[in-house]
Amino acid sequence: MSVHKENKEFKKITTNVLLAMKQRGEKISMLTAYDFSMATILDDAGIDILLVGDSASNVMAGHETTLPITLDQMIYHAASVIRAVKRCLVVVDLPFGSYQGNSKEALNSAIRIMKEAGAHSIKLEGGEEVIDSVKRIISAGVPVMGHLGLTPQSIYKFGTYTVRAKEEAEADQLIANAKLLEGAGCFAIVLEKIPAALGQRVAEEIKIPIIGIGAGGGVDGQVLVMHDMLGITKEFSPRFLRRYLNLYEEILDATKKYITDVKSKDFPNENEQY
Ligand code: KIV
Repeated sequence: MSVHKENKEFKKITTNVLLAMKQRGEKISMLTAYDFSMATILDDAGIDILLVGDSASNVMAGHETTLPITLDQMIYHAASVIRAVKRCLVVVDLPFGSYQGNSKEALNSAIRIMKEAGAHSIKLEGGEEVIDSVKRIISAGVPVMGHLGLTPQSIYKFGTYTVRAKEEAEADQLIANAKLLEGAGCFAIVLEKIPAALGQRVAEEIKIPIIGIGAGGGVDGQVLVMHDMLGITKEFSPRFLRRYLNLYEEILDATKKYITDVKSKDFPNENEQY
């Protein structure tokens, strides 16, 4: 039986199912989604987790960073995804400015996402500096996924999107933060753009699932931004990205053909009208 079919044995993916997958060594698949139609396809394909990422700020809204997207906009995207899914777990990013520095505000933001979008869980970036928010949200019964390594909401602090935690001090701090998040009750952690050896070490030392994006093959699962993986974005080519389609070119060609058919009056033909 294929891994895909094994996954389909579960009616719904829950945080407990993800933990069991880690324990038996089954890798976890995760992609981003921001709308109903794409989420329907990805869920039908058997994806384990859909992340309504604040990368919507980049790929859906065209901003340079993830900072501008608002809580209302995240709720709109999340509700669209939730309406589509039957099986996978949906994680929704808390956007920049909706949780940092104020655990009460963090809880309110998480509750809005759960109530108004019908989300299953939330994700937020950071370790020690957001631990009070993490604990407060979990104490209200909301599952939390952590995010360490390259955390795009802090891009102006880092100054660059290069690999994080290459030096021992930053690697030690990342491990300490992963343990803090685990201790606070997070159900999983995303590690973004760190050395593969460090990713594997965290996955071995931590009991909850570790999902990597540019964190090597030694972690418990992988996540990619759907637009990158399908080749809709064409400028973004980091080493960790595997493109499964070249949709930019395919959509471009299809659109050019459509334009030609309209201009030449080939479309609509007799069978395509009433
Ligand atoms: O917003 C996002 O797409 C993410 C992934 C890169 C993990 O956080």
